[in-house]
Amino acid sequence: MKKVITYGTFDLFHEGHYRLLERAKALGDYLIVGVTTESFDQARGKLNVVDSLMTRIENVKKTGFADEVIVEDHVGQKVEDIQKYNIDIFVLGSDWQGKFDYLKDFCEVRYLERTKGISSTMKRIHNHKIIRMGLIGSGRIAKRFVPEARYVSGMELVGVYNLHHESARRFAEEFELEFSTADEEEFYEHVDAVDICTPHQFHYAYAKRALEHGKHVLCEKPMALRKEEAEELFELAEKNGCILMEAIKTAYTPGFIRLLSMLQSGVIGEIRDVESCFTRIFPDDTRRELTNADYGGSFTEYGSYTLLPIIKLLGSDYQDIRFTCFKAANGVDLYTKAYFDYAHSLATAKTGLKVKSDGHLLISGTRGYIFVPAPWWKTTEFELCYEDFTQNEKVFTKYLGDGLRYELSDFVSAINGNPRGGFKLTRNESVAFADIMEKFLDWRRQTPIKEGEVIG
Ligand code: CTP
Repeated sequence: MKKVITYGTFDLFHEGHYRLLERAKALGDYLIVGVTTESFDQARGKLNVVDSLMTRIENVKKTGFADEVIVEDHVGQKVEDIQKYNIDIFVLGSDWQGKFDYLKDFCEVRYLERTKGISSTMKRIHNHKIIRMGLIGSGRIAKRFVPEARYVSGMELVGVYNLHHESARRFAEEFELEFSTADEEEFYEHVDAVDICTPHQFHYAYAKRALEHGKHVLCEKPMALRKEEAEELFELAEKNGCILMEAIKTAYTPGFIRLLSMLQSGVIGEIRDVESCFTRIFPDDTRRELTNADYGGSFTEYGSYTLLPIIKLLGSDYQDIRFTCFKAANGVDLYTKAYFDYAHSLATAKTGLKVKSDGHLLISGTRGYIFVPAPWWKTTEFELCYEDFTQNEKVFTKYLGDGLRYELSDFVSAINGNPRGGFKLTRNESVAFADIMEKFLDWRRQTPIKEGEVIG
């Protein structure tokens, strides 16, 4: 019996897929089709797959050509499968010409002529109009957004708004955007969605106005500095049929999602403690993080990251929250600790602008602990550790580029009616972050600087 194998994503199943499977089957007696998992596609940079794995498998099965469907989830699996299933012919479309010649050591390799004029990419583009995105703000964060946006299909970065037009104009020129403006009304006329990259205290007002104009909003963290504001924004988004997402990039990355799913499956037993830390020594004392006495400081800057694993793993039903910090002379916090007491667990979030600490995440449980080394917010590896250390296990994951492409691709997908990122950062979680920011800022305002506390 001649066995044939082929692989693909088979997203938005189309005629090209059908014809490839038809010809592959005709080459032998038994056809095995490998369909890629979402995480495998993500790891190789294919972030825009629309159909779920189940739908893609069903579509392959429906053709009647596949005698067996398997899932492909790691690099090197093809070599393993060919040996395991005793394959005679490996088949792929001609777009892969030459790329799999190394498999000739194991079986015959054939590249079949690709069907012209159709692809999943084309279908994705035709099914949805390209989302015209605009940036509100043209500073440091906005700059990091531009190269990442190039990896996300289904959207185009078209323009930039800044109250100070010269800054927007230079930005648009540097990144070859269609337009720049200092007129907010004009800006909304030209975009479908916005990314708000302004200093923290302006997030809420811009998000509100963008939503009132019916625009989808991706908003830099912290999205709001008061609980009521976050709730209001989500209600407004719902009323106007818009997507509203808080841009805490870690929440959308494959490594962090893997970490959460492992923890939720109970690998370290009941979680009793979460410790997270994010510090960066700021070399430049003239930046708003250090000069803005009302909204600057380490906790508003990095607190969203450190709160993410705490609220995701332990929820927002804490019994008590306390803060301590070192301040600068103008009152901004330079090194801050937030302590949480839950009914059955504890947590600490640590942030710093003038104190350097190890940026790890440590989750302790009744059976073991998970250690995520710095920088944990760009999760690429973590270790599961047990009393019996021979049971310890390291997990490695991908983190592509600056990591913003993941949140952006989930944002685009949600706008297109496929809210696959919804569970990654929920409305309640964002509201909980805003509530904590509010509690922190109230506490900071009301707490006089103690003698000897000022550092920096
Ligand atoms: N294929 C084909 N003809 C097409 C499109 C795809 O023969 N017009 C083949 C590919 O060469 C591959 C298989 O179908 O062997 C699965 O391809 P996949 O990557 O899932 O489909 P694409 O349409 O190429 O997807 P994308 O646009 O996302 O790259």
